[in-house]
Amino acid sequence: MTPHADTPTTGGTGAPPTVTLAIWRGDAGGGAFRDYTVRAIEGEVVLDVVHRIQAELAGDLAVRWNCKAGKCGSCSAEVNGKPRLMCMTRMSTLDTTAPITISPMRAFPVMRDLVTDVSYNFAVARRIPPFAPGPPTGDGTYRMAQFDVDRAQEFHKCIECFLCQNVCHVIRDHEENKPRYAGPRFFVRVASLEMHPLDTLDRRQLLRTELGLGLCNITKCCTEVCPEHIHITDNAIIPLKERVVDAAYDPVAWLGRKILRRARPTPAAEAAASSPAQQHNEVIVTDPPAVSGD
Ligand code: SF4
Ligand code: SF4
Ligand code: FES
Repeated sequence: MTPHADTPTTGGTGAPPTVTLAIWRGDAGGGAFRDYTVRAIEGEVVLDVVHRIQAELAGDLAVRWNCKAGKCGSCSAEVNGKPRLMCMTRMSTLDTTAPITISPMRAFPVMRDLVTDVSYNFAVARRIPPFAPGPPTGDGTYRMAQFDVDRAQEFHKCIECFLCQNVCHVIRDHEENKPRYAGPRFFVRVASLEMHPLDTLDRRQLLRTELGLGLCNITKCCTEVCPEHIHITDNAIIPLKERVVDAAYDPVAWLGRKILRRARPTPAAEAAASSPAQQHNEVIVTDPPAVSGD
């Protein structure tokens, strides 16, 4: 393979071009950046270079990864200070004329080198009541409008990389907020449940009190770093804030929406709804549809 275009050469010495990563090494007790210089190879992503450093120069370097395809959410780190998936960050997009810094996510405690303890996120997940569908309609099926399916689909793309959690200023520099704040990933999770037409629970009080939705001031930093391009603020957080405000300060609107949302069709309406003309706009399932993370 040939060196990639923007890799610095060695000034006509004939030696192969190199790239230097300044990787944070240490543990909970402290640490520092250490420079590692290896050969530059065309087409590599940051995780490839980290793996080569691990193989050739630092066998004890700790790094978490699994799929190398942007789908497992394991290889989250900060590349030149920006939260990124290392397996999805091409070396050709970075300035290789200076060392590229690779550090662990700052919002979570370091375990070793690039590996952080993200158990805070799993503790938050356990506090969110799971999907709770009501009984099926008269013919034993569940019906959802295509619009509701499409809306939930965006939220189900989350790979739990926790980059949005890492960048959220409410916890990034304020460890003390963690017990009372869920963070953007879990606002996405609650949105997927709250907007599910078959779910019967109401999590808005939980959002307002225990999950700290009010601490989010819609800076949109979470949306900017999401590798799945989920519109976290516009499609999840802002609609949730509106619902929470309605529930807390506009009980008439809340009651009206509750009645409309939970209304079950009459037998006549069900018969009409099952006509071929209606069915092309509906999704009919015999089991409750799964919700991500359940
Ligand atoms: S928009 Fe809210 S959740 Fe997202 S980073 Fe900003 S404060 Fe955090
Ligand atoms: S919402 Fe996006 S950034 Fe946050 S955990 Fe899911 S995939 Fe990662
Ligand atoms: S290794 Fe799976 S997302 Fe990077």
